[in-house]
Amino acid sequence: MSKLVHAQWSSKMTFVLAAAGSAVGLGNIWRFSYMVGESGGAAFVLVYLACVAVIGLPILVAEWMIGRRGQNNPVNAMLKLASSSGQTRAWALVGVSGVLAAFLILSFYSVIGGWSLYYTLNSVTGTFTGQDADSVGAIFGGLLGSPGVLLLWHTAFMALVIWIVARGVTKGLEGAVRTLMPALVVLMIVLVGYGMTTGHFGEALAFMFRPDWGALSGDIVLAAMGQAFFTLSLGMGIMMAYGSYLGEDVNLLGTARTVIILDTVIALLAGLAIFPIVFANGLSAGEGPGLIFVTLPLAFGNMTGGMILGLMFFLLLTFAALTSAISLLEPVVEFVEERSPLTRVMATLAGGAAVWALGIAALMSFNVWDEFLIFGLNVFDLLDTFTSTILLPLTGLGAIVFVAWCLDRKSVAAELNLSAGSETLWFVVARYIAPLGVILVFVNSLLG
Ligand code: PHE
Ligand code: NA
Repeated sequence: MSKLVHAQWSSKMTFVLAAAGSAVGLGNIWRFSYMVGESGGAAFVLVYLACVAVIGLPILVAEWMIGRRGQNNPVNAMLKLASSSGQTRAWALVGVSGVLAAFLILSFYSVIGGWSLYYTLNSVTGTFTGQDADSVGAIFGGLLGSPGVLLLWHTAFMALVIWIVARGVTKGLEGAVRTLMPALVVLMIVLVGYGMTTGHFGEALAFMFRPDWGALSGDIVLAAMGQAFFTLSLGMGIMMAYGSYLGEDVNLLGTARTVIILDTVIALLAGLAIFPIVFANGLSAGEGPGLIFVTLPLAFGNMTGGMILGLMFFLLLTFAALTSAISLLEPVVEFVEERSPLTRVMATLAGGAAVWALGIAALMSFNVWDEFLIFGLNVFDLLDTFTSTILLPLTGLGAIVFVAWCLDRKSVAAELNLSAGSETLWFVVARYIAPLGVILVFVNSLLG
């Protein structure tokens, strides 16, 4: 008996760690802070928090539920559930667009993963020690201006991801997630503590939490919603795939809450660590994708023990990026493996090579192709914006509409352990508020 209970507990823990490993990544630290800075601060943060709670939570639960009921990869799971509930096979598109999104996202994600590796190395060699804002900015500018260096580190990061996925040791990483994730949280708290010593912590707090609603635009709301999808790994079937490993006994709502709180806390800590440094050094909050790479090295270079802390930080960031990147490559590989005669190793190499090649276009948009714009965006921004503000929300919308409208209401309520009152609340949110929220944000930004 006790053996059985233990086995269930450990598989539940495994699942939570896998989901958290996918969710917590560059999105929390690199992307969250640069988006907040670019969008002018608190209004973005508050809309983002609302999106996470009202749209992200129900969609996370919906994706897990589809995976658990379908017991298959996202495309087949959607096909199976659609046919058993008398719906059209077109629902499989939700799974297909997820694979496309994963492919596109990983291409630029790997470039940033490469930056993180490069900064890990430079922390060891003491490059940032004693540097001022200008020279830290110049180091970053030098990196962006060197396609060869960017390519080297993008290749190194992608090679690590391919190696791990090809060996199929993804499961073995869970032990590492369990110890390294708390370490990352502790380190973030230390950095927030450093932020408090800069004398600009209050300014950062106000920037992040005192909104100027007048500055809010449709585009900012769309960006905030996109960030909510990106950071929770929603809208690409990854959470569906993880849901297929779920036991019947796992409480979906409770688990979703745990993962979301962890993800959100890390993002907010990142903001509270980075913006005091921005204000204390007269840097620009709207710097863009380079924000953490021109602020944090400055802090590490000028605090006691900064070399060790910087090394630890960039190592942990790289690790968090790796676990997310693995979850991005996995669906691409599964797709290639099932639809071609390739073995797993060959499928990983083929899928990984395609991602890597697209990543080259992304990294060239920081230098040789910086004038090459599509819809006014360079390749990097286009990949980032198109996936997070269009593909992910649309796929997520498909998942929530399917669960809320097409599955049997009573069985959904039973699966979520909902009492009569909370059943009403859940269905109002899942049927109306979350889908209409996504649609409204789209329409609003199209018009605005
Ligand atoms: N959620 C991850 C992060 O915040 C990124 C990611 C997006 C991973 C989508 C998987 C799928 O960094
Ligand atoms: Na995240």
